[in-house]
Amino acid sequence: MPKRPYVIDELISAKTIAARIEELSRDITAEFHGTDKLVVVGLLRGSFVFIADLVRELDLPIEVDFIEASSYGDSTESSREVRILKDLRSAIEGMDVLVVEDIVDTGFTLSHVIKLLKSRKPARLRTIALLDKPSRREAPVQADWIGFEIPDEFVVGYGIDFAQRNRNLPFIGKVRFTP
Ligand code: PRP
Repeated sequence: MPKRPYVIDELISAKTIAARIEELSRDITAEFHGTDKLVVVGLLRGSFVFIADLVRELDLPIEVDFIEASSYGDSTESSREVRILKDLRSAIEGMDVLVVEDIVDTGFTLSHVIKLLKSRKPARLRTIALLDKPSRREAPVQADWIGFEIPDEFVVGYGIDFAQRNRNLPFIGKVRFTP
């Protein structure tokens, strides 16, 4: 439980998120039109709400799988290592793959996962992130589709936590600490 009191101000409403997911889904459906199967890979845990809404808008044959990564800083931060805590169940060689991330911050997580999955030789590998904080980027990575570019705010909700709380908010909120 966070010790400092805080309130959450709405930054992106549930309605705005839903409308953007509809747009993104149209693009993704067009990109993968004709595929035998698209493996949609959610990065646990933050992406679980986004992937659930996204896949229900895709007009494609899909399989859903998950991967869990955790990063930990070293003394320099810039060489942050990422460990895989849970790997895919599916083999992805020769498959079409879409990696679904909730937020790209420093980019270490997404760039590590892309490198790992590319080494398994998928036919096509694309990435989508609901939120992008380009001002925080340290690893040179860019998702193919972005829901919303946001400033360097402390965001929660729609899958994203603050000390494991608030993942169940239906909107993206901004944490504001109160005196
Ligand atoms: C968060 C978020 C992204 C990652 C982005 O995950 O869900 O996966 O950090 O940060 P980066 O671009 O700086 O690597 P977190 O490790 O907090 O785990 P969670 O998804 O379980 O909340």
